[in-house]
Amino acid sequence: MKLWIVTGGCGFIGSNFIRYMIQTGSVRIVNLDKLTYAGNLDSLADVSKHPNYVFIKGDIGDRALVTSLLKKYRPDGIINFAAESHVDRSIDRPDDFIHTNILGTFELLEAIRSYWSELDIKDNFRFLHVSTDEVYGSLGNEGYFTENTPYAPNSPYSASKAAADHLVRAYHKTYNLPTLTTKCSNNYGPFQFPEKLIPLIILNALDHKLLPIYGDGQNIRNWLYVLEHCEAIKIVIERGQLGETYNVGGKQEKSNLEVVNNVCELLDEMSPRVDGRSYRQQIAFVKDRPGHDRRYGIDYSKIKTQLGWESQETFESGLRKTVQWYLDNREWCQRVIDGSYQRQRHGLT
Ligand code: NAD
Ligand code: DAU
Repeated sequence: MKLWIVTGGCGFIGSNFIRYMIQTGSVRIVNLDKLTYAGNLDSLADVSKHPNYVFIKGDIGDRALVTSLLKKYRPDGIINFAAESHVDRSIDRPDDFIHTNILGTFELLEAIRSYWSELDIKDNFRFLHVSTDEVYGSLGNEGYFTENTPYAPNSPYSASKAAADHLVRAYHKTYNLPTLTTKCSNNYGPFQFPEKLIPLIILNALDHKLLPIYGDGQNIRNWLYVLEHCEAIKIVIERGQLGETYNVGGKQEKSNLEVVNNVCELLDEMSPRVDGRSYRQQIAFVKDRPGHDRRYGIDYSKIKTQLGWESQETFESGLRKTVQWYLDNREWCQRVIDGSYQRQRHGLT
C-alpha cells in the first residue's frame, strides 16, 4: 500500500482530502499539521483512529522534523496543503503568510531535495503543491486564466502563494525534483472555517447577525465543491506529468451577491426564520476589501483533456449539500465559534 504525507491536513481541503483517501482504502496517510487557528482536529475525528492514518503536530518549516518523517515513513508522495489561506488576514498581518507560504515551502522543498537525492528507486515519488488561481490576479468581464497566464498576484496571500509556486518550479527545473502544481478556484463544502464567504454567511444568518458583502457585491468567483477538488488532486498526483501545472475549477461563476442570495434562499427553505421573513433582510453592504480582485475565471481544459477530470457537481446541488451540512453539524460549528476546538491541541479536552 502506498504512503503519502499530507501537510495541512487539519484544514478545510486537507481534512476532506484525507477522509476521501482513507475511504478508498488504497493509501496510508501521515498528516503533518501545525494546528494554527485553521487546523481543527474535530474535522478528522472520524478517521483519527483509523489504522491507515497518523497525525503529527508540526511545522512544514521545521526541516529537521520533515527530514525525520521522510526517513521514518519513506513516503511515495507528499501533498502540500499547508498554508495561511485567508486573504483578509494577509491584508491585516502578512507576517505568517511569508513565514509559512514562502519560507515554509522552501524548508519543505529542501528536506524533500535531500530525501530525493538519497532515494534508490525514484520512479514513484511525487510532490504535489496545492496552489490557487489567485496567483494569476484579476480578470475583467472577458477571458479565463490558463496555465500560461502570467502571474499578477494582488494580495499578500496570493503573492506568497506565487513565490511558493516559483520555488516549486525552480526545484523541478534545477534539481529535477518530481513536482506537480495545481491551481484551483474557490472551494466550498463541509468543514470550511467560517471566515470564508459561504460558511460565514450561513452561520451569521443562523445567529441573526448581519451578512457582510464587500463593495458592490459584483466581484465574481468560480466555485468548486471541495470533494471535486480532492478528486482532481488524487488524479494529478497519480497520473499528472511531472513538472506540470494543472488548473482546477468548477463550471459556475457567480457574483458574491448571487452567492449570498442563494444561501439565503436555501436557509429560508431549510431553516426558516421564526418571524417568517427572509434571511436576505440581514444583508449589509460594507467597505470593500483593499485590492479586491474583481473576477476569477478558470480554464480547466488541460486537466480535462490530459487527465480526464471535469467538475460534475452543479453549484445549486453543492450549495444545498453544504447548507445541509452546516445545519446538521451545529456542534462542530459551535466549537469553532466559541473557540473550544482549539483546546484539544493543548491537551485540554
Ligand atoms: P485552511 O486555512 O483551511 O487550512 C490550512 C491548514 O494548514 C491548517 O490545518 C493549518 O493548521 C495548516 N498549517 C498552516 N501553517 C502550517 C505550517 N507552517 N505547517 C504545517 N501546517 C500548517 O486552508 P484550505 O482552505 O484548506 O487550503 C488548503 C490549501 O489549498 C492552501 O495551500 C490554499 O492556498 C489552497 N487553496 C485553497 C482554496 C480555497 O478555496 N480554500 C482554493 C485554492 C487553493
Ligand atoms: O480563488 C481561490 C481562493 O479562494 C483561495 O486561494 C483562498 O485560500 C480562499 O480563501 C478563496 O479566496 P477569496 O478571497 O476569493 O475567498 P473569501 O471567501 O475570503 O471571499 C470570497 C469573495 O467574497 C471575495 O470576493 C470577497 C467576498 N467576501 C468575503 C467575505 C469573507 C465578502 O463579500 N464578504 C465577506 O465577509
